[in-house]
Amino acid sequence: MDTPATHFQQPAYSEAAQKALDRTPALFINNQWVVASGATIPVEDPSTGRIISQIADATDAEVDRAVEAARTAFDDGRWSDLPPMRRERILHRLADLLEAHADEFAELEAIDNGKPRDMAAKGDVPGSIATIRYAAGWASKLAGEMIEPAAMPRGAVHAYVRREPVGVAVLIVPWNFPLAMAVQKVAPALAAGCTIVLKPAEQTSLTALRLGDLIAEAGFPAGAVNIITGDGATAGARLVSHPGVDKVAFTGSTEVGKIINRAATDSMKRVTLELGGKSPVIVLPDVNLDEMARGAAAAIFRNSGQVCVAGSRLYAHRSVFDQLIEGLSEEASTQWRPRPSLEEGALMGPLVSREQMDRVMGYVEAGQKAGATVAVGGDTPTSNGGYYVNPTVLVDVNPEMSVVREEIFGPVVVAQRFDELDEVVKAANDTSFGLGASVWTKDLSLMHKLAGRIKSGTVWGNCHSMLDVALPFGGYKQSGIGREKGREGVEIFTELKTVYIKL
Ligand code: NAI
Ligand code: MG
Repeated sequence: MDTPATHFQQPAYSEAAQKALDRTPALFINNQWVVASGATIPVEDPSTGRIISQIADATDAEVDRAVEAARTAFDDGRWSDLPPMRRERILHRLADLLEAHADEFAELEAIDNGKPRDMAAKGDVPGSIATIRYAAGWASKLAGEMIEPAAMPRGAVHAYVRREPVGVAVLIVPWNFPLAMAVQKVAPALAAGCTIVLKPAEQTSLTALRLGDLIAEAGFPAGAVNIITGDGATAGARLVSHPGVDKVAFTGSTEVGKIINRAATDSMKRVTLELGGKSPVIVLPDVNLDEMARGAAAAIFRNSGQVCVAGSRLYAHRSVFDQLIEGLSEEASTQWRPRPSLEEGALMGPLVSREQMDRVMGYVEAGQKAGATVAVGGDTPTSNGGYYVNPTVLVDVNPEMSVVREEIFGPVVVAQRFDELDEVVKAANDTSFGLGASVWTKDLSLMHKLAGRIKSGTVWGNCHSMLDVALPFGGYKQSGIGREKGREGVEIFTELKTVYIKL
């Protein structure tokens, strides 16, 4: 798969994007941009490896200021006490503004993360707008409940359950879907009446910062939304252990998820976690193999495999395995060749960083050392300094290998054969993760049976990675705690209060 290095030219940035890159590193606190007082973190374009901007690395004092701003705004009720329909209106205004700036956000996301602009324009940005509009409606629909006491004489006690915002919520998000992951927490938290401190990933903070401009314009009261950029181990760690914080919602690695869960224990902060995965793709013999090759390729190569639900373990029935691997390899070496993120028609860009590229290539080497065979890819194209990895299919793997057990988070799929259904169910569940799984067959009865037997938060039939704002999303086992999206995704930002009145 050799593409000359000269073919990796990143097209020029637009004026709007350049303006966002040229801004002074600052933090968004109390609806104001506060110029950073500490160090800065370089921003790279992973399509070229070039440093294109700087963001603030928030100091302890700045982190504290952001939490205090959110605390004050929550405690005086300037956001939570607004009529719910006012909160709903303001959230819709934010969605309108994002819609008006959709092209710029898609471009910034592509520049910052390396994902194809087209993907951001068709997926990340409209998905984020939909998330805000969906959450906005919940502001005026969340409700408590009136329950008749069961062990008391009727009419003796009036009891009811209130649903209240949990308080100050810290939202820590990763770099794979920077805007979409931020909005998936920001919008429900605000709809529930919380005030927030958002910390985007240090690799990809550009769209979160631009969102700050839109927040100020949309009419949120000062302090309702605060946005802090900075290093995870310092700014992130301080946020999650801060005494002024009531709730932490995190998406990222299982490793950091565990650290956050422990850090929150002392003060019993409410914690929800969306963590890693190693999602199986189960292929039964009756599928259309051309469609299946395309489906399996998209399941793993979309977003360069940097997807928490990526279909990274392929299990194909022995009777179709060889033909499927051939088709998948063909897809990999034609459709999914990595391209610069702003190039027209690119399906897959680079990985987000050199660190991530090295981590992925380390896994590929470890797999080969352990006996795996590369069916396609397994290498990096010679480029102009970008972090490209060729889409990779590994065969001759076994369940003990790190490439089968661990989340690689790159365009690498491990493929195995199976004969019996019981065998593939056991193999699919033989993992510490449980985020997603897909089953591909025309036999609907079998599909439903398998959906019941697979231990994961989401199961797809004849598709993979399909997600909707209204449907709960989250993990079994070490893939997380709690659910985002849907009603649950708003309720995780609330607390129940039971009131008894003796009559
Ligand atoms: P990470 O989990 O370290 O980073 C995610 C977020 O957590 C970032 O905003 C980061 O600043 C913050 N963070 C890091 N350490 C923290 C701490 N001690 N306290 C509070 N916040 C902290 O992910 P990383 O290191 O960038 O990627 C490593 C691996 O994690 C990837 O290779 C992938 O396997 C997995 N990952 C999974 C994601 C998912 O969506 N499930 C997303 C990103 C990474
Ligand atoms: Mg990390």
